[in-house]
Amino acid sequence: MSTHNMKAQNLICGLDIGTTKVAFVIASASSNGLEILGLGQATHMGVRHGVVVNIEATTEAIKKAREEAELMSGLRAEKVWFSVGGTHIQSFDSNGMVAVRNREVTKEDIERVVEAAKAIAIPSDRQVLHVLPKDFKLDGQEGIADPRGMSGVRLEASVHIITGNRAIIQNAVRCVERANLEISGLVLTQLASSLAVLSSDEKNLGVSVIDIGGGTCEIITYLRNSVTHTACIPVGGNNFTHDVALGLRTTQINAEAIKHKEGYALPDMAGDDESIEVESVGGRSPRTVARSSLCRVLEARAEETLKLIQKEIENKGFVGKLGSGIVITGGGAELRGLVEMGDFIFDMPVRLGLPVRAGGLADIVGGASFSTVVGLLNYGYEKERHEIIEREGSFDVSARVSDFGRRLKDFFARAL
Ligand SMILES: Nc1ncnc2c1ncn2[C@@H]1O[C@H](COP(=O)(O)OP(=O)(O)OP(=O)(O)O)[C@@H](O)[C@H]1O
Ligand SMILES: [Mg+2]
Repeated sequence: MSTHNMKAQNLICGLDIGTTKVAFVIASASSNGLEILGLGQATHMGVRHGVVVNIEATTEAIKKAREEAELMSGLRAEKVWFSVGGTHIQSFDSNGMVAVRNREVTKEDIERVVEAAKAIAIPSDRQVLHVLPKDFKLDGQEGIADPRGMSGVRLEASVHIITGNRAIIQNAVRCVERANLEISGLVLTQLASSLAVLSSDEKNLGVSVIDIGGGTCEIITYLRNSVTHTACIPVGGNNFTHDVALGLRTTQINAEAIKHKEGYALPDMAGDDESIEVESVGGRSPRTVARSSLCRVLEARAEETLKLIQKEIENKGFVGKLGSGIVITGGGAELRGLVEMGDFIFDMPVRLGLPVRAGGLADIVGGASFSTVVGLLNYGYEKERHEIIEREGSFDVSARVSDFGRRLKDFFARAL
């Protein structure tokens, strides 16, 4: 078997359909972890606030991003882990209970109790994305993270269930299928992002991750290592750009460019007030404006956005429970000064989350806008890890057999 084929069997691919761009990554997986080998991107107009509104445009963007990733890696992607997000997502806690069959908890008992927790009435227009176990109780004893092997009679599970609107999810799925890709699984956008940027200590101590994209801020909160809350606010970096375009009377494209180049969420951080050149609309000649004017527009939008998030966290009762504070990620989090403004508004430590666990092309997919797509790989790797290691085992066996064959030949050669 050639190395190329061996790799081809252990590919993990991620596809993130965001409001501003589609990102496609191809990684090779082994027992040592992941190595990202290809990235493709396509900007498009097929998604609004994280929801597909134009199937044709989105399908084309997926095809383009996939081709680019295949070209870069020299590999063919067939199956993808795929992100789903938006304001249609709902999540809530649920509980289940079963009798332990053989007085010692097995993997099957755990599956049954999680299944029981899921067996609540879910309306037919909702699709379950995740059932994430929080903790288990055995014969009344609380706070058990993994009850396997423990003795008991009555096993209870508390889980967090994440559902989405079936029709909206199906529209996104249709785009992926039309691009001739199979789906390995659907993953909530901010769950994926959190896997790329968080350490296990942060999850243990309590943390909220905010993925600030182009069209949405998607939130996920961990307490004691488990997902306890998700939310989506339909505001993102595009709103910042739009405000700049209106405020400085310039085009969206120029507004986007000067936001990146000259923008600060905190005008005080911008240093000396230099003047910047902005394009005018309708063929008029460019003008110069003070950078502080740009920063004041960004400051107002940043403050409003962070306060909406703060309200969500406060309403859910997480103030004082997030020992690791807040991690912001997504392209919108790269706006300079946003972390510092966050420290102030949330009154908690805030840091920028970058996809740290990206192997291989870490420099290319290292930006905050790639957290989701890198997190999809992390999620896929966790799910497929056993199979990958098993397959590797079979490669090893064939290697060992041929090694044995060679030694046998050597033996006979010597004997002759
Ligand atoms: N350096 C930067 N400064 C300010 N804004 C930035 C910077 N880099 C990216 N952005 C903004 O980040 C946004 C895109 O982020 P991202 O790629 O994470 O979004 P998306 O995944 O396409 O959208 P969504 O997650 O909302 O569906 C844009 O609005 C862009 O202007
Ligand atoms: Mg995104």
